[in-house]
Amino acid sequence: MLSKIHSFSLHGITGFDIEIEVDISRGIPAFEIVGLADMAVRESKERVRAAIRNTGFEFPLRRVTVNLAPAFVRKEGSSFDLPIAVGILHATGQVQIPERGRIGFLGELSLDGALKPVNGVLPMALRARASGFAELVVPFENALEAAVVEGLDVFPVRGLAELALHLNGERRVPRADVDTRGLLTAERSTLFDFSDVKGQEKAKRALEIAASGGHHCMMIGPPGSGKTMLAKRLPSILPSLTYDESVEITMIHSVAGTLPPGVSLVSTRPFRNPLSNASAASLSGGGKLPKPGEISLAHNGVLFLDELPEFGLHVLDALRQPLEDGCVTVSRVNSKVTYPARTTFICAANPCKCGYYRDSRRACTCTPTEIKNYFGRISGPLLDRIDIQIEVRLPEYSAFYQGGGASEGSDAIRERVENTRRVQKERYAGMKIYSNAQLEGRLIERFCALDGGSREMLRQAYEKLALSARAHGRILKVARTIADMEGSDAIREDHIAEAIGYRSFDRGDWYTA
Ligand SMILES: Nc1ncnc2c1ncn2[C@@H]1O[C@H](COP(=O)(O)OP(=O)(O)OP(=O)(O)O)[C@@H](O)[C@H]1O
Ligand SMILES: [Mg+2]
Ligand SMILES: [Zn+2]
Repeated sequence: MLSKIHSFSLHGITGFDIEIEVDISRGIPAFEIVGLADMAVRESKERVRAAIRNTGFEFPLRRVTVNLAPAFVRKEGSSFDLPIAVGILHATGQVQIPERGRIGFLGELSLDGALKPVNGVLPMALRARASGFAELVVPFENALEAAVVEGLDVFPVRGLAELALHLNGERRVPRADVDTRGLLTAERSTLFDFSDVKGQEKAKRALEIAASGGHHCMMIGPPGSGKTMLAKRLPSILPSLTYDESVEITMIHSVAGTLPPGVSLVSTRPFRNPLSNASAASLSGGGKLPKPGEISLAHNGVLFLDELPEFGLHVLDALRQPLEDGCVTVSRVNSKVTYPARTTFICAANPCKCGYYRDSRRACTCTPTEIKNYFGRISGPLLDRIDIQIEVRLPEYSAFYQGGGASEGSDAIRERVENTRRVQKERYAGMKIYSNAQLEGRLIERFCALDGGSREMLRQAYEKLALSARAHGRILKVARTIADMEGSDAIREDHIAEAIGYRSFDRGDWYTA
């Protein structure tokens, strides 16, 4: 007897339809899986056999052949356990499947027949709906994630026994339900708020510009000057997530297996803060079983590298392209996978080994060579990818008591950021560009045109500071954002002047000043 069961698979963060055919025929008892299955899929034989028996069902003493189609797509992971088991139970008449063509199944089985959660359920559930399925059976722990998909009935199941009762109509499992729109409009948590930061007006302004235009930002300053504190507060001024952005983030975390339990939709912008011993694969993605890296987990949010010089050079090197492109392509044995990676990149470093180079109160104890080498490690691979570069100084003592010690809070700053983002969204509508930072080449010329005065100012800076052509483009983009923050169509001299001021470290004279 032959049974056909529907399931899903993943390529990157895209879900695919998979059809699972189970054929049971006379002959010497055997159990075979065919159709380009990897190790984990082939191991599913043992789990499926044990799960069926330990649930009290009968595993057929016949020839069992499972075919995964389409044959040319590589099948990975353990999520076919459940559909294979259901196929065997159905082919042997132990369960009924009403309206078989409309139900999809996915999940890993343990030997006792319990269902275990799997990665990538959201993109697979989206695929299910797109392919016209009405119902999806998933492991209990994955239900909230799948239920985000509107127009699909999701049935959370704990094990094979419960599923059989459900399918046979003896005891139906209740449908999973989540209020996704409600999640996104919920109050923001204000764990880290800019009102905690005293003084530092220059750094706060720089971060507001970074948030407003999606610009990457580097902060250099002595120990205790507040760099880490400032960076942690960046997410609090980024615009609220749209539903689509939220789904994108959730898909990446779903595939990576980093979705916290009980979370159906990621509702706050990610803030990823990997440690300096991170490998290139963990940062930019890849590895033996390719997974999204930190830069993709930070998609639509912030990637923060604290103590930049402590990261491995080749690790930082691997970030260059993704930071520029907004996506990462990971090579695998015979295919490539692309993950989104549009993030606001923030990094922090001390200016030198002792930490006090250029400090007004403490003397630096490093030799000129040490300073130069240290700076080389900071600037090496990434500096020219960074739009905004600032020195963070130790706050003045008076800053702690200014205005009764009160500083502007994140909510007020974020309101301005949202306005500036709106201007950009309208300007770049239909161009697949969402922020000024994404402008390139001819688009910079088109949208960042200068009048005579500001052009002359930029020319002088370009020559005096020995800036690169790349720095020139970055200044224009930052100036565009500063103008947008003021609601000015034209980029004026004061906008250009401020943007030039954010090239602290790639001027030729920084470490000899
Ligand atoms: N501007 C500020 N207003 C209020 N508190 C501050 C300010 N700057 C620093 N602090 C306090 O000092 C602590 C240390 O700051 P932070 O860790 O951000 O410094 P850092 O620049 O990252 O230093 P390091 O180079 O050693 O990593 C903060 O946790 C905070 O308590
Ligand atoms: Mg720090
Ligand atoms: Zn020093």
